[in-house]
Amino acid sequence: MDNESVLITGGAGYLGNVLSRDLLDRGHKVTCLDNLMYSQGQSIFPLVSNPNYNFVYGDVRDDRILKTLLKKSDVIIPLAAIVGAPACDLNPESTAINFEAIRSLDRLRSPNQKVVCPISNSGYGTKTGADLCTEETPMDPISLYGRTKVDAEKVLLDSDKDAVTLRLATVFGISPRMRRDLLINDFVYQALTAGCIKLYESNFRRNFLHISDASRAFMHSMDHFEYMKNEPYNVGIDSGNMSKLELAEKVKKKIPNFSVYTSEEGTDPDKRNYIVLNEKIRRAGFEANITVEEGIDELIKGYNILLRNNPHTNL
Ligand SMILES: NC(=O)c1ccc[n+]([C@@H]2O[C@H](COP(=O)([O-])OP(=O)(O)OC[C@H]3O[C@@H](n4cnc5c(N)ncnc54)[C@H](O)[C@@H]3O)[C@@H](O)[C@H]2O)c1
Repeated sequence: MDNESVLITGGAGYLGNVLSRDLLDRGHKVTCLDNLMYSQGQSIFPLVSNPNYNFVYGDVRDDRILKTLLKKSDVIIPLAAIVGAPACDLNPESTAINFEAIRSLDRLRSPNQKVVCPISNSGYGTKTGADLCTEETPMDPISLYGRTKVDAEKVLLDSDKDAVTLRLATVFGISPRMRRDLLINDFVYQALTAGCIKLYESNFRRNFLHISDASRAFMHSMDHFEYMKNEPYNVGIDSGNMSKLELAEKVKKKIPNFSVYTSEEGTDPDKRNYIVLNEKIRRAGFEANITVEEGIDELIKGYNILLRNNPHTNL
């Protein structure tokens, strides 16, 4: 299994960078197909010296490129997407990629190729905060982003070819292609720069997952594909189900001069409020174990380096 060739679309992104590194460390051949839409080419520089790493510049919707790359791949991890509700709302037409890329991939791949695809658990939609979401909970996405991911998951799970879908919690931690928009990454950045934050609907609950645990979940799904195939799995850390206020307080414990204000007047455009259970993937032998506290420490270290480098940086 160690020598499987893995095609990662969107492999130069936040998750793709870390996953590529981890797959290469395990001896896999990795091909990254990415259009570098964030001009983030430099983020993959540390990977290029590895002879098992191959980068292809291109659009995931280009069937000709995809067909050629699929011929050489045992495993496909489709990460290319317009990611997150704000990015999707900014340019709704561009989000067709989230669904279309998965539909073409499913059409072009052969039945013996493994597909492990991330889906956001934002697909569970608005909840009361008391609801416990398992994989049986009906998907009811409230954002355009959530809808595109749920539609993409349906293509894979309804297909007559095999796939595992991972309903990832909101990821946190450092990556060479940094995403500061993710909730924990953002709170720590705000604490270090603005020194304060105003929370709307501060009691709304989310759940979280460290980027290295996300990477391990993909590799676990590859290794246990026969057992896990054709099913969705929630992936998060159990202790990472918490409200925005609880999260901000955890950040404050590490950065004491961080002032946290709550407001009853405004609303958060992101209405997600739920607790997600990860029992099913635990039964499949996987457990996330990097805590939110450990992630906050890592982010403080990482941001402090970047801020020293350029105090006006817009990460
Ligand atoms: N980060 C999270 O919290 C999270 C949670 C759940 C699911 N996911 C899913 O994981 C995947 C990766 O997310 P990420 O956080 O790494 O985001 P990201 O924006 O950093 O990565 C997306 C990558 O796709 C590339 N891309 C976009 N359009 C492309 C196209 N048309 N052709 C080729 N490449 C293209 C971008 O250049 C980028 O490198 C996405 O599918 C996302 O929905 C992420």
